[in-house]
Amino acid sequence: MRVELDGVTLEVEDHGEGVPVVLLHGFPLSSAMWTGVRTAVEQVARLVTPDLRGFGASDKPAGGYTMEALADDVVRLADRLGLARFVLGGHSMGGYVALRVAAAHPERLAGIILVDSRAEADTVEGRARRDASIERIRRGEAVAYLDEFVPNLVGATTRARAPRLLAELRGIAAEVPDHVLIGCLSGMRDRPDSTPVLASLDVPALVLAGEEDAITPPESARAMAATLPRAELMLIPQAGHTPSVERPIPTAEAVMAFLRQHFPPPPASIRPRARRPEIEPEEP
Ligand code: MLT
Repeated sequence: MRVELDGVTLEVEDHGEGVPVVLLHGFPLSSAMWTGVRTAVEQVARLVTPDLRGFGASDKPAGGYTMEALADDVVRLADRLGLARFVLGGHSMGGYVALRVAAAHPERLAGIILVDSRAEADTVEGRARRDASIERIRRGEAVAYLDEFVPNLVGATTRARAPRLLAELRGIAAEVPDHVLIGCLSGMRDRPDSTPVLASLDVPALVLAGEEDAITPPESARAMAATLPRAELMLIPQAGHTPSVERPIPTAEAVMAFLRQHFPPPPASIRPRARRPEIEPEEP
């Protein structure tokens, strides 16, 4: 569905019943990265997966790609959907955005899920690499940049055994316009250190990472889980940076187990009527 947010319209999937869970995709992808886990997670939650501005079928305005601006879109989306408190999850760049939501509006978070992400800001070398990528895209070399970057989104096992997945990710990335690539690379380069946010996030947290992730290695996941007061760490074997794409079944199982443990559905006797019927009534 389309959700209008005062100046930008986002494409949003919103299905299922239960605790509201908003999952944010990473760079340079779209909510399509959650396709393999969607049906399972919707068994235990109301799952909301937006295409962030600039990605998928959402509007692609000229600006607004700092992590804070993307976080502001998420909060306005939650307002529009009537979600006062929700579990917020993010993959990689989506995690950077989730931590900016946590910094600005901690009262909105019932829980947090960080998938192959990190809390630290870019290092000096990391910032220089972003600058070089931005220069390359400005020179008209976005295709070559993405051809080099996208293979890093999966691990060695997927590259060897499931090259089709890599082609799917390359196809999603191909839809991202140059100004959005540049906007997000600048936004990620300039993001602040979110480590101080972690220690004060006293909500259930799931930190999930592919064991073969080379972009945000498992050490980043371990560090976040050690700092968050109520975190559990789950490493997915034979997955790289995108476990929801590479190993959707163990990824979905980890998310479902976390949600079932911390946000169990109320007993049937006090459960409110379903928000929407499972099956539409037949026409007379
Ligand atoms: C992502 O997967 O969202 C990005 O690769 C993260 C990053 O470049 O820091």
